[in-house]
Amino acid sequence: MGSSTSSEHLARLAGVVEAALDERVGALIGAEPDLAPFAAALRHPLEAGGKRLRPVLLLATVEALGGDLAPALSSACALELIHTFSLVHDDLPALDDDDLRRGRPTTHVAYGEDVAILVGDGLFALAFRLIAEDPLPPAAARLGAVAELARATDGMVRGQYLDLHPVPDPDEASVARMCGLKTGCLIEAGIGMGLVLAGADPAAGDAYRALGRELGVGFQIVDDVLDATSTSAELGKTAGADVANDRRTFVTVLGLDAARERAEASWARAEALLDALPGDPAALREAAALIYRRTR
Ligand code: IPE
Ligand code: IPE
Ligand code: MG
Ligand code: MG
Ligand code: MG
Repeated sequence: MGSSTSSEHLARLAGVVEAALDERVGALIGAEPDLAPFAAALRHPLEAGGKRLRPVLLLATVEALGGDLAPALSSACALELIHTFSLVHDDLPALDDDDLRRGRPTTHVAYGEDVAILVGDGLFALAFRLIAEDPLPPAAARLGAVAELARATDGMVRGQYLDLHPVPDPDEASVARMCGLKTGCLIEAGIGMGLVLAGADPAAGDAYRALGRELGVGFQIVDDVLDATSTSAELGKTAGADVANDRRTFVTVLGLDAARERAEASWARAEALLDALPGDPAALREAAALIYRRTR
């Protein structure tokens, strides 16, 4: 889907994220002997298999505006922790009841439902500790990053509510609203936190945030298409989960062909927004391309 681009920046930034997660999250998870089994459960959903797209968007935004990566690393890790917490809880029996995630058994399958609920809670808290306890970013940037992440997490939770308790007869607009919250908020937070950490001026910020909104909904359209068309082995999570759970998605509400058209149209709008961005959005362009042409 879309034009092909190289992915050299993407691989580099994903490597930076992976190394930062290893170092920083490893240190916070700790090694007390009586908590060793819980530490293993906390690591379980984070290990391998994630695309790390949201933290890559954050670092790509910082780079686009000429900022330093070092003060942004705790925020990048925090965003991935919140996203991972959202996946652990999304998979719980009371929500999507899924047994496969990132190519491995879900946390509740591996460790039990009680532990998986606590893993989600723990990842949530560790995310905010990571940012609050990092002395590198100036205090105002730290506070701004916390505010962006808290707002996005609140939006994600509200979107999950709407997914589980849809309005009667959902149409395309209500599905777009639900997805803009459950998925869009954390994608947009990658760009929003990047803007805060790079100290972007408001005019530049508006253009980047418009791209974030487009990518957020585009991401979920592609997720819904992949759910309907791919295999569990390829996705590393259960294919066909939306129909099995009787969910209102872009595919179940619009049909597969129209959903694919919406994804193409979103990619075209994202490319136009990228062309008009101030700064040097080379890495952001690669991350955007991954959203639309990914196979998992
Ligand atoms: C999956 O997100 C959850 C949705 C918002 C649809 P990703 O597709 O980014 O999952 P990982 O992080 O690569 O596992
Ligand atoms: C979940 O949407 C979005 C989250 C907040 C985790 P989905 O339920 O479609 O995500 P997948 O397909 O299980 O990854
Ligand atoms: Mg879900
Ligand atoms: Mg799900
Ligand atoms: Mg899905």
